[in-house]
Amino acid sequence: MTSRIAVCPGSFDPVTVGHLDLVRRARSLFDEVVVAVGINAGKSPLLDAQARIDLFAGAVADLDGVRVERMPGLLADLCREVGASAIVKGLRGGADFDAEHPMALMNRHLSEVETVFVIGDPALAHVSSSMVKDVARYGGDITDVVPPRVAEAVYTAFGTDVKDGAR
Ligand code: PNS
Repeated sequence: MTSRIAVCPGSFDPVTVGHLDLVRRARSLFDEVVVAVGINAGKSPLLDAQARIDLFAGAVADLDGVRVERMPGLLADLCREVGASAIVKGLRGGADFDAEHPMALMNRHLSEVETVFVIGDPALAHVSSSMVKDVARYGGDITDVVPPRVAEAVYTAFGTDVKDGAR
């Protein structure tokens, strides 16, 4: 039987527990999950691409059937290259859907790949990479919402520490 492959794309700047929740849910639906670390033309990342890939790979090292790849160009091209039958994206609420809807249509236009939306853990609905960076920039505590190595990398990039927030 052919294995069913899903791609979970994002800029993952940085990976959060919300992303990890999504990858686990995607893996429960598909035989293989390819996490595609890409470039969002509308954002300038805090962490370089290799750091984002390495941090995500470290965070999913214990998950069977999950691998992390760099996405240098179009998501539609990567989906074709890896033989994906779907893109899996997480939705925290209506704003996420509004942003994702045109991307899903464009990706289907380009490659006929379907996008599957998964509702994440509501306990993590407040967690986003942008929020994590905003909190860490000022020395707030991000250690519950990102893996330990990620917290370290983000604090280092800002030159802050969780202790700064406790002063
Ligand atoms: O986590 P993000 O920043 O919302 O991820 C956005 C990302 C990287 C998945 C998106 O920008 C993307 O797919 N970029 C690759 C270029 C592409 O395929 N663009 C056209 C279809 S959206």
